[in-house]
Amino acid sequence: MHIHNLSQQNSVLNTFISEIRDVTIQKDQMRFRKNIERIGEVLGYELSKALHYKTSVITTPLSNCRMSVIDNDIVLCSILRAGIPLHNGLLNYFDMAENAFISAYRHHSDSSDDFEIIVEYLACPDLENKTLILADPMLATGRSMVTAFEALKPFGTPKDIHLVSTIGAQEGVDYVEKYFDKHTHLWIAAIDETLNEKGYIVPGLGDAGDLSFGDKLQH
Ligand code: URA
Repeated sequence: MHIHNLSQQNSVLNTFISEIRDVTIQKDQMRFRKNIERIGEVLGYELSKALHYKTSVITTPLSNCRMSVIDNDIVLCSILRAGIPLHNGLLNYFDMAENAFISAYRHHSDSSDDFEIIVEYLACPDLENKTLILADPMLATGRSMVTAFEALKPFGTPKDIHLVSTIGAQEGVDYVEKYFDKHTHLWIAAIDETLNEKGYIVPGLGDAGDLSFGDKLQH
C-alpha cells in the first residue's frame, strides 16, 4: 500500500490537526467540523496528484487553451456519521464525484470493551471500473474501513482505491495495509502511536462523531 502521511511535512494541515486535537478549541463544534472539512480539502488536493488526467481544449473569451483535467470516474464513499465533514471537504474538490454512504457503528454486546462493527445503511452507485475514495475520519482499528469495503463489494470492482483519514493509529494503518492490495493509496493527516483499551486513538482527539454532532445515547 502507498501510505502518504502528510504530517511528515510542515504545512497548514498541521495547524488544522492541532486544532481538532486541542481539548479547548475542539469544543467549538462548528470550528471542529470546519477543520475536518479543511483537512478533507488538503487530503483531496494531495490525492488529486495521483489521479489520471486527460487533455481538454478549453475555450476562453480570447482563445482556446489545452488543459490537463481529471479523467477518473470518482465515487466518494464516507462512513456515517463522523465522516460527513470529511466527505464535504473532499466533495468541495471532487464536485463531479458520485457519492456513497454507509453507516458503521461499534456494537458492544456486553459490558466488555470488545465490539463488532454493524453496518445498517448503505447507498452506493455502480463501482465497476471507477475510482473509489473511501473516507473514515478516524482509522483506529481499521475494522470499520474493511467492513465498509466488504459491504461495497456487491456494487462492483473499482479500478483504483484511495483511503482517506484524518488521524490513524499505527495498528489501524497496519490492519488496512494487510487487507488492501499493494496498489491502494492511504492519504492520512497524522499517525498516532497507539489505541487505548476502548479502541480510541491515543493521543488522538476523542470521539469525532460526538465532537462534530454532539453526544448520542448508546443502544
Ligand atoms: N473513533 C473516534 O471518533 N475516535 C477514535 O479515537 C477512534 C474511533
